[in-house]
Amino acid sequence: MPSKLKPFLSTLAVAVAAAHCAPARAAQDTVQVLHWWTAGGEAGALQVLKDDLLQHGVQWQDVPIAGGGGAQAMTTLRARVLAGDPPSAAQLAGFDIVDWSHQGVLQDLTPIARRQDWAHKVPKALQDFDVYQGRWIAAPIGVHSSNWLWASRKVLTRSGITRPPATWDEFIADLARVKKSGFVALAAGGQPWQIATMFDGVVLSTGGPDFYRRSLLERDPKALDSPTMLKVFERMSALRPFVDQGFANRDWNEATAMVMQGRAGFQMVGDWALGEFNHAHQVPDKDYLCVRTPGTQGSVTYHSDALVFFKRDAKDQQAQRILAEAVMSPGVQAGFNRIKGSAPALLGISREGFNACGRKAIADLAQADASGTLLGSLSQGNAVPPAVKGAFFDVIAREFNGAISPAEAARQLAAAAKAQY
Ligand code: BGC
Repeated sequence: MPSKLKPFLSTLAVAVAAAHCAPARAAQDTVQVLHWWTAGGEAGALQVLKDDLLQHGVQWQDVPIAGGGGAQAMTTLRARVLAGDPPSAAQLAGFDIVDWSHQGVLQDLTPIARRQDWAHKVPKALQDFDVYQGRWIAAPIGVHSSNWLWASRKVLTRSGITRPPATWDEFIADLARVKKSGFVALAAGGQPWQIATMFDGVVLSTGGPDFYRRSLLERDPKALDSPTMLKVFERMSALRPFVDQGFANRDWNEATAMVMQGRAGFQMVGDWALGEFNHAHQVPDKDYLCVRTPGTQGSVTYHSDALVFFKRDAKDQQAQRILAEAVMSPGVQAGFNRIKGSAPALLGISREGFNACGRKAIADLAQADASGTLLGSLSQGNAVPPAVKGAFFDVIAREFNGAISPAEAARQLAAAAKAQY
């Protein structure tokens, strides 16, 4: 998928005038929004949007579906749409947007997009998902990336580690050192999407960006069932002894809390973790470290969160329009993403107020886009259609949990890619 984030991201330093502001009005309309932003940082970011809406006389009615990665949320959303009771809007990303646009249930946002000139303000890489058959069907709110490693400064120091790992071998050696010092080495949860998030980074680190593209974006069976993929799965297996007993049912933000509280050394998760560090007022370098998954420096596996709007009665459309406009306003994009740990999805938003990790995220995206190493994240639905993603997640999780061997996993991945869904 072609990506043109460069003009957008390279101009992020440019300050933009503040908000979408208007005098506060008594709320008359309501928007019901289904999402999975339930962790502290996520809820904090959402508050920026809710406050902005209230200023415009629209009350936010929350439909939060806990469970990161959105698997639960998608099930609820499908049930509601099938029952003829869709919410006003829902959080979606990547190929899920494409999938829903095929159902014919999404509102066409093109008139709003024209008025606010989204075509010139949203990077091309995001438009590839947000525009369907020439019509805008999603309003992107932020850009996340998954190939990150988060580390506790305290745990590293107590384990005698003076710098974060830069290579895979250093990472494995550091995990062993942390474990030996009595801490949990790798904070993680066993939900398939969390394991897949680690997998994004391991594929990229093991095979590099070309291999990532060939195996996961192009689904080339020769890359999927290959010695490199075998090595990827062997590396996944090598991580397994570093997670603790509580791994199976842990949410991603509980794992982040283990790093924040100095109970675990590392977490391999996307920069939504930054939202949690922000929420707890932790400071980069002093309390925690953010580096790219060792061996993936220079490449970025990305996705963008967006809101889609469902076809509802005419009486609801005014509030839906106000919500779409708010999402795409510079003030909301700046405030939301600064708290959330993501990069703005609009061109030209000021970096002011983003901390060192937030600024690194923005700079890395620009640099990866410029060098052709900006890649859709498998774990967050930006690489393959939802059904294929589900089949891949299943193989990746079963291998991580020791149910199948690395060689079997590589074979099954290639088979899943070939199957018709
Ligand atoms: C979403 C993020 C969210 C994370 C954890 C990801 O799929 O894109 O916005 O913070 O899941 O819930």
